[in-house]
Amino acid sequence: RQRTFIMVKPDGVQRRLVGEVIKRFETKGFKLVALKQLHASDQLLRNHYAEHDGKPFFPKLLAYIGSGPVVAMVWEGANVVDVSRKLVGATRPSESAPGTIRGDFAIEVGRNIIHGSDSVESAQREIALWFRPEEVVEWNDHSNEWIYE
Ligand code: GTP
Ligand code: MG
Repeated sequence: RQRTFIMVKPDGVQRRLVGEVIKRFETKGFKLVALKQLHASDQLLRNHYAEHDGKPFFPKLLAYIGSGPVVAMVWEGANVVDVSRKLVGATRPSESAPGTIRGDFAIEVGRNIIHGSDSVESAQREIALWFRPEEVVEWNDHSNEWIYE
């Protein structure tokens, strides 16, 4: 099955939204296969957000995500990359639908709580960047037949 990289940003950690984020992915039916909290290095964040290097908001983005601990996760499930982006909501919270994580908990783009990979290729790159292979845990999902037809 497909995997994606999800990260609760420092504002989400400070605002005690880690449990809320995990709850939404869990109750959807996705499977948690990796989880850790860390204060990411500048080098890791530059690599993670390399596509935005040179944009006007890049320095602010690095300062924001590097301002405190984040919670990094890998979630697994059918179409988890695209479905996660829907659970997360639009980049700008003013455009994120109510019911999405950003739509329910954020106001500004520079404090938008959570990251989710934007494609299968990005997900593979980001999972490899944030986790060593042995940190991603395979486990037998006993709910499988109640979640998948
Ligand atoms: P991520 O899941 O974090 O990658 O967000 P995204 O894929 O919805 O948006 P994108 O990759 O375009 O931007 C990455 C992050 O940079 C956003 O989530 C914001 O935190 C930040 N960002 C993007 N655009 C702006 C902007 O115009 N101003 C500021 N201050 N931050 C921005
Ligand atoms: Mg992005």
